[in-house]
Amino acid sequence: MHTTGFQLFFSFALLSVLLPACTPQTLDQKTPVATAEMANRSKQSLDTLQTGRALYIAHCGRCHEHQLPASVSSEDWHIVAPGMAWNAGLNQGDERAVLAYLLAATSH
Ligand code: HEC
Repeated sequence: MHTTGFQLFFSFALLSVLLPACTPQTLDQKTPVATAEMANRSKQSLDTLQTGRALYIAHCGRCHEHQLPASVSSEDWHIVAPGMAWNAGLNQGDERAVLAYLLAATSH
């Protein structure tokens, strides 16, 4: 039996679906970059959001995998973030920046 065009087409189609899923995404790609639009929407300065994102990347993956902003609801961030900021040894200003970033990066 020889390979038909359809089979070839099918294996290419399958590969193009599977390959991107196998490429590991860096944390940077999974953690939305703070944008001016995000700053407007959340009424925070872009500076605060960028600081918060950097702190989050630096500190919030030390004890467990980074819990991606979008995987936690805004309501839950309000509850969890203070304890986690304490875990991470953040001061109040840093805690505020991380929470601002997490909320801005969470759409629900
Ligand atoms: C010193 C260790 C430590 C650091 C640093 C830390 N965490 Fe955690 N985190 C934990 C532990 C332990 C748990 C699980 C127990 C718990 O819920 O308290 C947890 C749980 C969580 C959860 C799930 C909570 C739930 O109730 O399901 C989230 C979300 C989270 N951390 C986010 C963060 C963020 C954001 C930061 C950075 C500000 C952070 N963590 C820094 C130790 C840490």
